[in-house]
Amino acid sequence: MNNLISFIEKNKEKHLEELFEFLRIPSISSVPDNALHVRECALWLLENIKNSGIEDCRIFETEGHPIVYGQWLGAGDSAPTVLIYGHYDVQPVDPIELWKTKPFEPSIRNGKIYARGSSDDKGQVFTHIKAIESHLSTFGRLPINIKLLIEGEEECGSNHLEDFIKDNKELLRCDTVLVSDTEWFAEGLPSICYSLRGISYIEVFVTGPNRDLHSGTFGGAVDNPIFVLANMIAKLKDEYGRIQIPGFYDDVLELTIEEREGFKKLPFSEKEYCDDLEVDGVNGEFGYTTLERTWARPSLDINGFNGGYIGEGAKTVLPSTASAKISMRLVPHQNYYDISEKITKYLMSIAPPTVKVKVNTLHGGNPVLVPRDSCGVKAAMLALESAFGTKPVFMREGGSIPIVSTFLSELESPTVLMGLGLPSDNIHSPNESFAIDNFYGGIKSSAIFFDEYSKICKTD
Ligand code: BES
Ligand code: ZN
Repeated sequence: MNNLISFIEKNKEKHLEELFEFLRIPSISSVPDNALHVRECALWLLENIKNSGIEDCRIFETEGHPIVYGQWLGAGDSAPTVLIYGHYDVQPVDPIELWKTKPFEPSIRNGKIYARGSSDDKGQVFTHIKAIESHLSTFGRLPINIKLLIEGEEECGSNHLEDFIKDNKELLRCDTVLVSDTEWFAEGLPSICYSLRGISYIEVFVTGPNRDLHSGTFGGAVDNPIFVLANMIAKLKDEYGRIQIPGFYDDVLELTIEEREGFKKLPFSEKEYCDDLEVDGVNGEFGYTTLERTWARPSLDINGFNGGYIGEGAKTVLPSTASAKISMRLVPHQNYYDISEKITKYLMSIAPPTVKVKVNTLHGGNPVLVPRDSCGVKAAMLALESAFGTKPVFMREGGSIPIVSTFLSELESPTVLMGLGLPSDNIHSPNESFAIDNFYGGIKSSAIFFDEYSKICKTD
């Protein structure tokens, strides 16, 4: 163990330099024109994995971006297998003018690595690769079998990974899935996440007259699609924050008293939360606290609204079309197919006959609740405590990692969500960062996890 930790200590700079190389590749997955950079990133990662000692690795092509896969099965059939999942794709960088330093030129300020993808998820997934390298260089082996599955489409819905998993169940067979793509509750407070919200993302198009019209000649007589859509949107929630889609709450798992008590024990200050966002108060579903609303209650947001004239100056137009992007975060045991159908039906039912409405589903993913008493979670608790010196807390997340529910349904393996991000990391925002201490500590906690897992989680 001492040799392992001293290898990690000695290689700090090298590991950081490699992470910087990884961060320099602009692997934004949602922009089709950027596909070559995404591929470049997959190839860089493959090379790094190979150089880290996992020779059995390859790229799997999909109809979208490539999947990077690697395995080290040298611990043998009697040893357990952990599949590590992560993503090498990143979010777009806009609004670029708000970045203090360029998103794909990583730099360090105040103990943080600033770059797009530093926390979500390149920095986090890289800790595992460097932990594997540390074991292999120090001992020539790992105490468990490892499989690595790193995808390039998480940030746009993991659209091709589900089929890949269904088609490759034997290849991916494992005892536990380990994911580092979540956040700690607070700086200095290592956390294990046990639930992610799911998501159902749709786009709605409203078409009125067959062309843009003069709002003086036609205004008052012809329905305006923006107005119609705004009215429809207003009917999605009532004044108590309850979503009005019929049947929306049918499958929602209610919070238990113990869970609500558990949330209350976490060091959360509503005032600090508001101060950080520079808002004067919070607002949401009546009867629930902020943590309950974001972790354990479903939500509905308008992510974008399009229509009419938004250029400089005025234009008296009655537009022909309007559209909106709408996403709903789901909680156990809601199902995203079911919710997409329900919202589609509802929108159709409330649209006036003067317009045509079309709804497209963009993507979806189911919510998950992972066990808190699995041996993998126990190993993660020990690993985090030993690497960071503080006992981890349990928390839930409002965000989604769509593929996690598939690990449970298709591979029948419990997932451990051992994240390393911080709430101040600004993921998906300008100036994304990853704390250097969490990067180095994360390499240690991953390396220790492998040992603890081999001791605690023996195969039967
Ligand atoms: N790492 C995040 C998930 C996450 C978000 C964890 C917030 C902790 C806090 C992940 O990369 C992500 O952003 N997922 C997307 C999925 C979506 C595009 C289907 C999300 O939640 O918006
Ligand atoms: Zn993300």
